[in-house]
Amino acid sequence: MTLLPPEQLIDRILNHIDNKTTDLGDEEWRVPSSHYLSEQHFKEEIALIRSTPVPFCPSAMLPENGSYVARTAAGTPMLVVRGEDGTVRAFINACRHRGMAVAKGSGCKRAFVCPYHAWTYSLDGNLKTIPGKNGFPTVDIDTHGLVQVGAGEKGGLVYVNQKAPVVAESLDQFPDFFSPEQQFLEEEVLLDNANWKLLAETTMEGYHIKGLHKKTFYPFGLDNINVVEKFGLHSRVTFPFRRINDLRDIERSERTIDGMVTSVYQLFPNVSVSILSKHSTITIFEPVSATSTRLLTYRVTNQRADGSTTSLKEAKNDADFVKGAGLDEDREAACSIQESINSGTGFELTFGLFEKSIVNFHKNLEEHI
Ligand code: FES
Ligand SMILES: [Fe+2]
Repeated sequence: MTLLPPEQLIDRILNHIDNKTTDLGDEEWRVPSSHYLSEQHFKEEIALIRSTPVPFCPSAMLPENGSYVARTAAGTPMLVVRGEDGTVRAFINACRHRGMAVAKGSGCKRAFVCPYHAWTYSLDGNLKTIPGKNGFPTVDIDTHGLVQVGAGEKGGLVYVNQKAPVVAESLDQFPDFFSPEQQFLEEEVLLDNANWKLLAETTMEGYHIKGLHKKTFYPFGLDNINVVEKFGLHSRVTFPFRRINDLRDIERSERTIDGMVTSVYQLFPNVSVSILSKHSTITIFEPVSATSTRLLTYRVTNQRADGSTTSLKEAKNDADFVKGAGLDEDREAACSIQESINSGTGFELTFGLFEKSIVNFHKNLEEHI
């Protein structure tokens, strides 16, 4: 991994502030609006997300053996559970009798009892009991467990690949995001009438801080001053707060970056992890249709440079500030663009040198679809 360490990141940002510059990509990129509307594109993107190791939830949501999270991922009902042996496994959340979901939401259980006719599965997905087994003389209990898919855990995140096993090496591409001390705060689900890519794109550039977030983020953050780094198929965009200038009075070796920037990791294809001042978020842009998206956000507390963590209360106050402010403005922008696209006139979306992370994202999409 080639991400800059904090002291070099701070140098680069202060340098940009002094020179009124920002990180630039090396090319512009154009995407036809039809890519945000077409059924064919939607299907191909779903297939790509299903066959990629994608963050599913923070490990902090699965603190105990028996902890589980059930949700739809790229259109598939999924159940992720920490087994009796502490290992995280992922299953298609569909009973082997007639397909009902065996779990909803999140929680902790010793077994999963299907709500329809009570077929019961153990935490490792095996079918344990069929009430009235004599009614199913040919059903072999041993081969009717929940269908398992790939899952793995690294650095505080659970990853799922619906089409292949998740081997440890395939997760080396991801940084360690969270320590076991960081606590799960809350989950939020929103539904927007916008293609998932439009919503994801709002998190990938700082060229709109002054324009879109004039009264919300701009009083605290700098406009169009960013460090943009690519790693593998992914990228990290660093958004500095104005208060980063206070670090100029501090010895370089004594500086910490905590609370001075927001780091947004775009994890290809449809997840973003943001490290904010006092909390962090994992946002999954879950495509529902070509023109609608479920935004799933999981929030956790932060770890400071000295190893201590923010309290749930501090994290909550920080999260409430961000939610009440700029996030809604980003969602509104994405929905407004979708309306233009839906009109069917057909146009190109142009991404410039300031939107390097988005260009990276689209180039990767083009290559992998
Ligand atoms: S569908 Fe699950 S027990 Fe019938
Ligand atoms: Fe924004």
